[in-house]
Amino acid sequence: MARFSITTAIDYTNGVIHIGHAYQKIVADVLYRFHKQVGDEAYFLTGTDEHGITNAQAAAKEGLEPRQFVDKISSLDKKEIESIGINPDRFIRTTDEDHKKIVAEFYMKSFNNGDIYKGSYEGLYCAGCESYKTLSELVDGACPLHPTRTIEKISEENYFFRWSKYKDFLRELIDTNPNFIQPEQRRKDMIGFLDSGLEDIAISRPKQKLSWGIPVPNDDSHVIYVWFDALINYVTGLKDMWPASLHLVGKDITRWHTLLWPAMLKSAGYEIPRAVYSHGFMNLNGQKISKSLGNVISPSELASRYGSDATRYYFFRYGPWVEDVDVSLEKIDAAYQSDLANGLGNLASRLTTMAEKEGLTGLNKDLVTVSDEYKDYMTELKIVEATESTWSKIKDCDRTINETELWKKTGEEKETTLNKLLNTLLVIANETKPILPISSQKIIDAITGEKIVKIEPLFPRI
Ligand code: MSP
Repeated sequence: MARFSITTAIDYTNGVIHIGHAYQKIVADVLYRFHKQVGDEAYFLTGTDEHGITNAQAAAKEGLEPRQFVDKISSLDKKEIESIGINPDRFIRTTDEDHKKIVAEFYMKSFNNGDIYKGSYEGLYCAGCESYKTLSELVDGACPLHPTRTIEKISEENYFFRWSKYKDFLRELIDTNPNFIQPEQRRKDMIGFLDSGLEDIAISRPKQKLSWGIPVPNDDSHVIYVWFDALINYVTGLKDMWPASLHLVGKDITRWHTLLWPAMLKSAGYEIPRAVYSHGFMNLNGQKISKSLGNVISPSELASRYGSDATRYYFFRYGPWVEDVDVSLEKIDAAYQSDLANGLGNLASRLTTMAEKEGLTGLNKDLVTVSDEYKDYMTELKIVEATESTWSKIKDCDRTINETELWKKTGEEKETTLNKLLNTLLVIANETKPILPISSQKIIDAITGEKIVKIEPLFPRI
């Protein structure tokens, strides 16, 4: 039995997640369900990233203690993903006790290997990214990802991680494992970044400046830098399923996952994850999804409008898997109508109506699984191609029904064609099950009982 452990980025708890954050959780959940379906031992980890300045500032704004505040946001985030059918094996929080312990152990392993030393840092910091910046990374003096935040000037004593020591190791890792960074364009970006040089990085903050973090184990006047803490969640959360088969992240945090994280793991003596996939960004109505622009939709709002299955479907198929995409309710409405209501829903309803009338016996569900083509696409992370291959089967079935005018036929001819189409519908339902778990199960139940029964509309008019 193959193992498949998948993780997503853990979200900052400075505010409740929106659909932009949820996108990668949807894809991860579909891949997870697919691997379980084909018999792999699968594990899915996601959660919340709760330390650091961004979270501390958001708590202070509401007049709450950080812990009270992050408890609230983390549980709302969890409800958001549950509203679209996502139930990971573990929802990790960086404030969990086992995580704090593992971060301290990890830090000491790296320290004992001579990779952590005390130094001083003077420079710029973007709290939105929780990251040090160089002047050349700013646009008009601001962080391009967080233009409304003030860039802080920092001058302080920190502990540093000897990142520069791992330059050759990282280059070899990337060169010898072409799939380590996907897709290809991000791999090229990372090689470019690596070739421009790596500097050691500050991995602690003085406690008097920021106390909301995990204490440095051998110097409690410092707390561990939020990225050093957050990345380790994968080791804490996956336990004996480490190393991860796949880290799924957004493009803004590729560098942390493909260059810093492997260096940290090597330093502390852990295995390296098998692959990091970094997807694009989603805009809403042509604008960045952002609270300050009032341009936010939540997974639960979408689920109450379209249902959890349809929400998953839209983002899985049309989300920013490689390139950035723009989404809008109009686009979701259109896809709902054409692909789901008039596509899968209509096909299932046509076929089961005819089959019930003919009194057809149910199919044996154990005989039919998914097609090899679909399976290969999913395994190779060609998720759009996988979905398109399923939808082309839906179109083929529709065409056969229309061209043969099946509803007018009678007797054996009708029964034979219907049975063939119902078998394809079973393949389709198996292939759509990871994306549309509720609707696909309804199809499977309707066509694999003792007698085939007419299915209720799966995707009613909105
Ligand atoms: N806490 C860090 C990740 C630590 S992982 C060890 C972080 N958090 S975040 O809340 O800012 O972002 C979480 C994820 O959501 C990131 O992968 C980010 O790329 C993704 N997205 C946030 N907004 C997005 C869109 N508008 N579109 C697509 N993904 C987006 O970074």
